[in-house]
Amino acid sequence: MQSFLTPPWRQTFRRRLNAWYARGARDLPWRQTRDPYRIWVSEIMLQQTQVKTVIPYYERFCKRFPTIVDLAEASEEQILQHWEGLGYYRRGRQLHAAAKKIMAENNGEIPRSRQELEQLPGIGRYTAAAILSFAFDIAEPILEANTIRLFARLAAMRSEVSSSQSQKSLWSLSETLVPRKRVGQFNQALMELGSLVCTPKSPNCEACPVADLCLSRQKNLTTKIPVMRPRATLEKIREAAIVICRKQRFLIRQCGPNERWSGLWDFPRMRLNQHQESAVAEQIIDGVRNLTGYTVDPGSRIKTLKHGVTRYQITLECYEATIASARRKKGDQTPHRWVRAGEFGRVPLSVTGRKIAQYLVAHPAPET
Ligand code: ADE
Repeated sequence: MQSFLTPPWRQTFRRRLNAWYARGARDLPWRQTRDPYRIWVSEIMLQQTQVKTVIPYYERFCKRFPTIVDLAEASEEQILQHWEGLGYYRRGRQLHAAAKKIMAENNGEIPRSRQELEQLPGIGRYTAAAILSFAFDIAEPILEANTIRLFARLAAMRSEVSSSQSQKSLWSLSETLVPRKRVGQFNQALMELGSLVCTPKSPNCEACPVADLCLSRQKNLTTKIPVMRPRATLEKIREAAIVICRKQRFLIRQCGPNERWSGLWDFPRMRLNQHQESAVAEQIIDGVRNLTGYTVDPGSRIKTLKHGVTRYQITLECYEATIASARRKKGDQTPHRWVRAGEFGRVPLSVTGRKIAQYLVAHPAPET
């Protein structure tokens, strides 16, 4: 057998991988284009999100914003509307900012060098390399979750894969493997193998075209590698969302730049102090006043939602409230509006905001 990473080893690896990909690659929508804009959109969506979740979002997004000009000219709200439910909204905002920058500084032309691409918001080494190799076959190596796992197993890497030393070795392994020609297809094939065969749990080594080249397989280490950093423990927090209805319209506000759902709309929402059960009403009154300037009379709890965001496990209690005073004090400076239940569909809402809106549409209050 050839020694690991020697030129004949690499040749065998590339030949087998390419043949395997030609036989069984999935027909994913972003693989049917060489338009760098569409490839860029797909790669941003695919960061931290599964392929099957991304497909309908990608298709809708490309239909609504078919070119970089359409994206740059759209409002942030229109973009977030097409991103709603995909999560990590910062990605959508950065995509928009980068499109505007490319229009202003590069005549709408997506740069063809890694250095220039990496200057753009939201584009790191991986995304730059994906755009360059998939759209233009430029010989840039890639490294993302699937290829990290694949390379760590191939090389039987015993160190934690996210350490800077490991990342350096993994990038260098990817550089060694990258071919001179048909780079895009090769890079796609690496990800495809990681995603379909060299899976996190129980990799399917029987189906792997390069199993006999894999050091983890030889050493019987496939279940021990990659070595991952232990997951952070989840912090439990308690929050309240307040449904304020007046003349059949509901009060929503746009989350500010330093908030969790920045740019999206939500019912007034606040952290509740875990230890002060009796003071929930006061916390709601203060919270709504700070967020919107309105003084409310809190009512009963209508629903409780559990959801997780990054390292938080959130229990969200939803309360009804009515406006107590016609006078409005100065709240924070984020916009707010009153919307009818039938208008919720036109507003980009936070995940829990959407769940509450759906609940309100399904359970209309009796007319008074
Ligand atoms: N994950 C990240 N980029 C991908 C791509 N282009 N195809 C499939 N999975 C991916």
